[in-house]
Amino acid sequence: MALTDISQDILTLAGNPGSVRITAIHDDLLRKRGVRLHLLRLDLIDVALGGNKIFKLYGNLLTAQKLGFDTLISFGGVWSNHLYALAAAGQRLGLKTKAIIRGELPAHGNHCLSFLKSCGMELYPASRQQYRQRHDPVWQQELLSLHGPAWLIPEGGANLAGVEGCQQLAFLISQLPGGYDEVVLPCGTATTLAGLVAGISLLSRQQGTPSLSFRHPAFETREKVPAVRGMVVLKGMTSLQAEIEHWLRCQGVKHCVDWCLDASAHFGGYAKRSAEISHFNYSFWQTHGIPLEPVYSGRMMRALFQRIEDGYYPHGTRLLALHTGGLQGRSVDEADIA
Ligand SMILES: Cc1ncc(COP(=O)(O)O)c(C=O)c1O
Repeated sequence: MALTDISQDILTLAGNPGSVRITAIHDDLLRKRGVRLHLLRLDLIDVALGGNKIFKLYGNLLTAQKLGFDTLISFGGVWSNHLYALAAAGQRLGLKTKAIIRGELPAHGNHCLSFLKSCGMELYPASRQQYRQRHDPVWQQELLSLHGPAWLIPEGGANLAGVEGCQQLAFLISQLPGGYDEVVLPCGTATTLAGLVAGISLLSRQQGTPSLSFRHPAFETREKVPAVRGMVVLKGMTSLQAEIEHWLRCQGVKHCVDWCLDASAHFGGYAKRSAEISHFNYSFWQTHGIPLEPVYSGRMMRALFQRIEDGYYPHGTRLLALHTGGLQGRSVDEADIA
């Protein structure tokens, strides 16, 4: 399967085509260990549609358009980055958006929910018990009967269309100057990782180079294909590996680049408040002027710094970490510090 580079279309849809850039992180620890760390600032694309969100949504928006749906329905919690992005995309494209919200809406609302409403998204709270059925086709059918024809996007944008959109991240990375030994990203549903791994694998095979040289006519020749490390922010996610393998098969990936899931980034469990993460994020912000959020990028970066400190990377290793955005929810935990 050949890949077509539509990464610029995606950035244009997000409203900020020239925005992706890398920031070199300079730090005593990195100097001591002889490790180079760059951060791919997907967060700079857009507050709402930036990060990995626009890549996951793009495939879904195209599918909805192809199938003739003008309404999108999805699922998420009251601080969902995914719903935040979906609401913004719906507003920009003139599509109706509806959200099934996990649990009751907070009595005084919150800034995420206000944003969803301001974009015209309709919110339908579901009890936690009912929400657990979100993957059940029977309940999904009931929702469609109730709300009318619509393209249903799973929680977190975790479907094959989302994975395919994330393949485009490989094009962005292949255009960056300088080669990388490892690309590191935070992992929730692993949709982004599955797309990235597929994208790099397909792109590196596109030229038929058995050595997996990372070549593409539009980009610099790479002497080495980067491996991919997913920092898993949930605890005990034993099913993720099989899900990723399934998605890779669905995308026709036969020869895969090296990838792995790293279980050292949950810091107590998904979205659990962690003083360690709060302090790390605060000090990262003070030292580098880069905002991290506590659920994904903060956990990834803390776990990555620990790996570097523990000496896992040989001198001269070149790392690229993905800042996957999600800064709209940042104030939730940062308030603890201030
Ligand atoms: C900011 C941010 N980073 C990373 C992720 C994890 O992405 P994925 O679920 O594709 O693994 C998410 C979830 O969508 C997110 O909101």
